[in-house]
Order: sequence, then structure tokens, then C-alpha cells
Amino acid sequence: MRVSQSLAVKIITAANRERPADAVMREEFRTQRDMMPSDIAAISQSVFNYFRWRGWLDLEIPLNEQIRKARELARNFAANPSAFAEVDLCERIAPEWVRGELEISPAWARAIQGEPKLWLRAQPGQGRTLAGKLGAAKSAGEHFPDAVNYFGEEDLFQCDEFHAGEFEIQDLASQVVGWLCAPQPGETWWDTCAGEGGKTLHLSALMQNKGLIWASDRAEWRLKSLKRRAARAKVFNFRSVPWDGGVKPPTKTKFDGVLVDAPCSGVGTWQKNPHARWTTDLRDVQELCAIQKRLLAHAAPGVKPGGKLIYAVCTLTRSETTEVAADFNSKFAAEFEPLELPGENYGRLPTTATLTIWPQDLGGNGMFIAGWRRKK
Ligand SMILES: C[S@@+](CC[C@H](N)C(=O)[O-])C[C@H]1O[C@@H](n2cnc3c(N)ncnc32)[C@H](O)[C@@H]1O
Repeated sequence: MRVSQSLAVKIITAANRERPADAVMREEFRTQRDMMPSDIAAISQSVFNYFRWRGWLDLEIPLNEQIRKARELARNFAANPSAFAEVDLCERIAPEWVRGELEISPAWARAIQGEPKLWLRAQPGQGRTLAGKLGAAKSAGEHFPDAVNYFGEEDLFQCDEFHAGEFEIQDLASQVVGWLCAPQPGETWWDTCAGEGGKTLHLSALMQNKGLIWASDRAEWRLKSLKRRAARAKVFNFRSVPWDGGVKPPTKTKFDGVLVDAPCSGVGTWQKNPHARWTTDLRDVQELCAIQKRLLAHAAPGVKPGGKLIYAVCTLTRSETTEVAADFNSKFAAEFEPLELPGENYGRLPTTATLTIWPQDLGGNGMFIAGWRRKK
């Protein structure tokens, strides 16, 4: 057995709910420093293919044979996706509980069985220029001028443009969240679940580094990483502060805009992260739905009259999307009204107060976004 195959077996065996496959993989690659980039790419592909095609595999046969079978399925699918029957695809791509939470369409099934695209976010208006500099990259076109699809083999974290803060690695659907927030230079925003700052950095770029963003998260280590990223991206108009999502806000400031990019089950990322299909369950979805409702309710008082409240999750389950929005509408109708998100500025998106983006719509993650405005 080649070394890359045996390492793929080791990673798949070690991966579980607490230690997702991508984390196990990162750990392995860190410890085996002499590995060639081509070996790393081959192992990652074997592991992801295995979890992507797991629903087709005989789990009783030796793991290395399953990996070989998964590789063959992935190759056949890439060569001729229509050779795979729609009914079969829809039945096998994910566990049974998913059917109760979303409609499994053939288009979604096909989208998440393919190789995911890697998206970059250039500085505003610089998409084409960045694509030209990087090579093996293409701007997403007139409606998404800052988004760039990279299909080369270089380690982007090593390139000069990355260190100069000319781009961030950010999925296209995540970029849409920033665009639909549409913050203006000089405004004050609160990014309540800022994590490592993907959206904070984007809001800042859209605000031309003018105004102020409060970036909070309950995980302080994530805020530390945000600060490092912000320094590289030359983002200065933010203040980071811990917030556990409780009823007490981190500040008495009232904001022009509050973004709740809430923790979620991540079903929208199942193309990129196929292991999660087999470790996430309905109980996770139900627990997260309760957290999301609470976070929205606790963030809402931070919005000033006339200000915006935006809810975003990279998942597609009813419980975490339309149900959370409906719950907010029923409890806060006296103070908030639905806000039409400016999808018309982005060609292929509708202008509605709630928006579901499927992976097949734009070629990125799945995402749900809802907006409200505080009544004056
Ligand atoms: C979807 S991630 C945020 C991603 C980030 N906004 C970005 O664009 O890079 C959700 C974040 O919510 C945070 N979180 C989870 N539970 C929370 C809570 N109860 N209060 C505040 N933040 C919470 C997590 O630490 C995580 O960073």
C-alpha cells in the first residue's frame, strides 16, 4: 500500500464527531513535515472522496478497498455525472434525518458530490486585477466583482499578495452576506459572532475602513486570530470584545447594523466538509436552533431605530433557517419589520427579506440570510 493510502486509512479511522476529518488531517500534516505537497493533495482527496461517497460503500470490506472504490466513484462522477441516477444520488448522499429538515433535490445532490471551488475575496473592485496576478484564477464576473475562483496548485498562504492583504480566502456565499449587509463608510456595526473575523474584515473593506465595527465572540482564541488577520489586511476600524451570547450586551452602543452570523450545523458546507454529513444529527440541529433564537433575541436590542439586523447561517435545515426567522417575526413584530436585502445589486439574487442560497446557485456554500429593520 502506498504511503499516502495508508495515511488516508489512518486519518479516516481516527476521525469522529469530536475530531473531524479535516482537523485530524491538519494534525497529521503538521507532524509529518517532510511530506510533498502532491502527497498532501492526494491524501486530502482520498479522505474527502471517502466521506463524499460513503453512502455507496460496503462498510464491511477493508477500508483501503473502500477508499479505492470511493476514488473510482468520484472519477466516474466527474467524467459523467448524468450516469448517476437522480433517485439514487438523493437517497445516498446523506443520512435519513436530513429528509425531515430539507428537500433533497437532484440539483443539490449533484452539487455536493462534485469537487468544491476555492473562492477568494479581493479588495473592493480588485477581483480581475488579483486574478491576473495570481494566474489560474478567474473573477466571478460583473455581479460579484470582488470574488475570485482560484483553481491553481500554489499554497496561497505563502504568496506575496496574501501577505500584503490583497485577498482573503472566503467562500462566495459568505461574501454575499457582507454585500447584503451593505454597511456604509462611517457607520457603526456589531458583528456578534465574529469568530476569526471573515465577515468583520469584509464589513470593514465595504466601509472603506471608516466607522467602527465591534467584533465579539465567546471564543477568545478566535478573537486573537481575528486581530492577526486584521493586521495583515490593514483593517483598523474594529474593536474586539468577548460576548457569550447572554442577555447582557458587550456595550451600551446602539448600532446602525448588527450581524448575527450564528453557529449552525453547517449543512451548507457539506460539499467541502463531507465528513460532517455522517457526524451531524437532528439533536445538533435542534440544540443549535434554540441557540440561534436566543442569540438573535439578545442581539436585537443593540440595533438603533432605523438600523438593520442581519441573521446568517451556512446551513439549510428548516429549523435553523425559516423557523428561526419566523420565531423572530412572531416575537419582535412590534419593534422590527422585515428588510428587503439588496439582492438586485448582485444580478442572480432576488430582493427578498429572507434568502436561501443553495450550493448549485452560485458554486459556493449553501447559506440562509434574513434581514430586519428596527422601526423608528
Ligand atoms: C459561523 S461562526 C462565525 C464565523 C465568522 N463570522 C466568520 O465569518 O469568519 C459562529 C461563531 O459563533 C460563535 N459562538 C458560538 N456560540 C456563541 C455564543 N453563545 N455567543 C457568542 N458567540 C458564539 C463561535 O465561537 C463561532 O466563532
